Amino acid sequence: TRRLTLADLAKMKASGEKIAMLTCYDASFARCCDAAGVDSLLIGDSLGMVVQGHDSTLPVTTEHMAYHTAAVARGSQRPLIVTDMSFGSYQESPAQALRNAVPLMAAGAQMVKLEGGREMAPTVQFLTARGVPVCGHIGLTPQSVHQLGGYRVQGRDEAAAARVLDDAQAIAAAGASLLVLEAIPAPLAERISATLTIPTIGIGASPACAGQVLVLQDMLDVAPGKKARFVRNFMAGQPSIGAAVAAYVQAVKDGSFPAPEHCY
Ligand code: KIV
Ligand code: NA
Repeated sequence: TRRLTLADLAKMKASGEKIAMLTCYDASFARCCDAAGVDSLLIGDSLGMVVQGHDSTLPVTTEHMAYHTAAVARGSQRPLIVTDMSFGSYQESPAQALRNAVPLMAAGAQMVKLEGGREMAPTVQFLTARGVPVCGHIGLTPQSVHQLGGYRVQGRDEAAAARVLDDAQAIAAAGASLLVLEAIPAPLAERISATLTIPTIGIGASPACAGQVLVLQDMLDVAPGKKARFVRNFMAGQPSIGAAVAAYVQAVKDGSFPAPEHCY
């Protein structure tokens, strides 16, 4: 098996095959997700909460992201590897973003993900022109939790929806090759997905996105407690973690996840 590339994901979108992405932070789960047919593994800065026990993604560093990226890369063969740029490692300038993308790419990332809309377009342009593919992330951007006033749905009213659409277009025009849409109304996610050529990856967005992503430990229902609306427990009724992950891949591919109850 060879590793999937961004060209493969673009072909999947063109042919209507949904892209199944999950977060992953270590080699054992990477092996499990690979065997279950996950197309892309995101080393998300959600590891600040899931692995490190913080209550936000803000304390995560480039060194942490590189460490977990290397583990996931060693544990998997086929999935496309995407790594989040951590808070404060790219917002200062395009040059700072490139400097901090380098150790992530060296650790095995095939692309980096960064949060933000039109204000990040020059950075996206700078990175992609220098050999670093970029996945955008708009809507609910957890690194801005204190600016947003909590983890809540974005783009609800007409003016806010227009801003999210404009952000999507700016990031795509700057050269991003994937775009995560988090916690926005389903009709808005559908409109963005229809407007853009690049694949959109939804989390609390719409089944009309080209692909879906969830936090692995959330969809396996590892920790007790209330989950976001967009999380489905794929472990329910499954005999093993591998079977639960395979059920997620199947549900994304056949369009049964996300259902209306997972959307806004
Ligand atoms: O860090 C993360 O897990 C993410 C995804 C949920 C999109 O950014
Ligand atoms: Na993230």
